[in-house]
Amino acid sequence: MNAEVLERTARELVPAGKGILAADESMGTIGKRFEAVGIESTEDSRRAYREMLFTTEGIGEYLSGVILFEETLGQKASDGRPLLKVLEDQGVIPGIKVDKSTVSMPLHPNEKYTQGLDGLADSLEEYREAGARFTKWRAVITIGEGIPTHACIEANARALALYAAFAQEHDLVPIVEPEVLIDGDHTIEQCDEATNRTLMATFDALREHDVHLKGMLLKPNMVISGKDAQNQAGVEEVARYTVENLLRNVPAAVPGIVFLSGGQTDLQATQHLNAMNRMYDGLPWQLSFSYARALQQKPMEIWVGEEGNVEEAQRVFRHRARMNSAARDGSYSEDMEAA
Ligand code: 13P
Repeated sequence: MNAEVLERTARELVPAGKGILAADESMGTIGKRFEAVGIESTEDSRRAYREMLFTTEGIGEYLSGVILFEETLGQKASDGRPLLKVLEDQGVIPGIKVDKSTVSMPLHPNEKYTQGLDGLADSLEEYREAGARFTKWRAVITIGEGIPTHACIEANARALALYAAFAQEHDLVPIVEPEVLIDGDHTIEQCDEATNRTLMATFDALREHDVHLKGMLLKPNMVISGKDAQNQAGVEEVARYTVENLLRNVPAAVPGIVFLSGGQTDLQATQHLNAMNRMYDGLPWQLSFSYARALQQKPMEIWVGEEGNVEEAQRVFRHRARMNSAARDGSYSEDMEAA
């Protein structure tokens, strides 16, 4: 493990004014997202869609990195350049999702376990040779009647820590993503408790496995009301609950926290991040974004697989990236949406 390389890459992923685009939807997920807006999912439509995103002029101003799905690593833009090279030419660091998605947690109804540790060391070697510099692994924690259980939190925390150790041994920065889902009618307090338990177990496991904290990033959910809850916490409440939770659980050695959007609207995801950066000064870590849906929803709806829509889709994508870039230092305001 080269600690210096890891620390440098981790810091390069969270510079002022920049965040990460997660474009690493698995076949199943991209299929669902495409279907919802009427795009057929084929190898070429996925390639063309991601080419549209990555060739957007000026994204390097707002994005430090992009997380890719394995398939994209081998794909080329229409001008013959590998998509990974397109990103590098934009000054954006390519990374890759390395988990193999979730399975039902055995004997634990409604809970999930993330698989992918077998063979991971070999794949990491290939990814690094292909040019990836960082990686991501997502664990999923569900709130409900009697869940999350200790067993589910522990099993996923262990897998996250082992993954992070494998990644660091290959000089690839791990993005550790334990996602407490927004699905359900739970209160913000219940999300706070589940997030607390999840982050505590995750950092215990990371320490046990000697993961170098200065050479990793955390990708958590925000502490937020369940999607179907009657009472929805306001922007400042979400910001306060989230930062207070992170202050209890995330060591100052971790250089950055890059939130997932997790089903928030794109506006909410921007407002929440902005409020955290506006309300708190001198936090030990950078507070940034690693959004998939909150950056891609609108451009995907506009693009719908038509070459003629590329320019408008790219304009909207750049705008969303710029809004989140402003949220990095709390300087975003809703007036900027119209501009
Ligand atoms: P969302 O921002 O859509 O939650 O996706 C982030 C991600 O990478 C999930 O693994």
